[in-house]
Amino acid sequence: MKKKFALALAALMMTGTLAACGSTNTNNNAGSATDGTSVTSETPNVDAIKEKGEIIMLTNAAFPPFEYQADDGSIQGVDVEIAQAVADKLGVNLKIVDMDFNSITNSLKSGKGDFAAAGMTITEERLKQVDFSDEYVTSSQVVVVRSDSDLEGDKAAIDAALSGKNIAVQEGTTGDWYASGDEENTGSTIKNANVLQYKSATEAGLHLANGKADAIIIDQKPAEAIVAANDGKLKILDTKLTDEQYAFAVQKGQEDLRDVINEVIAEYKGDKVDELITKHMGA
Ligand code: ARG
Repeated sequence: MKKKFALALAALMMTGTLAACGSTNTNNNAGSATDGTSVTSETPNVDAIKEKGEIIMLTNAAFPPFEYQADDGSIQGVDVEIAQAVADKLGVNLKIVDMDFNSITNSLKSGKGDFAAAGMTITEERLKQVDFSDEYVTSSQVVVVRSDSDLEGDKAAIDAALSGKNIAVQEGTTGDWYASGDEENTGSTIKNANVLQYKSATEAGLHLANGKADAIIIDQKPAEAIVAANDGKLKILDTKLTDEQYAFAVQKGQEDLRDVINEVIAEYKGDKVDELITKHMGA
């Protein structure tokens, strides 16, 4: 017994991992070491990120005010600021990788990034693939139409009116699922729409303004950004089609990283997020 303990202690001293992790880990690590198993950290993913000195955020920077390309080419937005706070908390650099929205989940799963921050809605479908942080924004899918449109009514009436129409969406988003009549995931009752899938909210806006599409189904704040960018040509209907929550995503099982993200989200949720939305809506 005594010998076993001494060996375990030696093993602990040699690995040096103990010094790097939080003091609460000490007892657990010593405990597992006496069993002869190797000493493991309780924060392996966070340790690896600190080791690299860099954390990688996956996003699609075509979704203002959450993420967009600024005039100088840099990627800015609400999500970028929250992600920067996560990086600061870990004492590492933030690297942003911009990609098509519908590639983000798979890229995260295959380890091309540490987390996704993309105004991403928590859905059952995505929960099968990734884990989500706590939510930080509440949103809805809304309908954008040309200003002279007389489309109005409750959700059922709008779904009926949009059935068989040309609806522009951003590919792979919950708006895309809604326009496609995915009742299970979105509650949509739209039937047989011609769904025009674009890579960005901006492109969808152009095609509505020039008459190629009859409507856009997209998240509330990006809808406002599209309307603002198309001087008076477009408007948003009051009817909300869905209730959604945004969260950051991590690879399944990366609870240590998710905990750090949740700490930052707890600081930002509410007033700070609202301020950031206002700041980036104006940008
Ligand atoms: N909230 C919607 C979704 O999760 C749209 C998100 C689009 N985000 C983006 N960065 N393009 O499907």
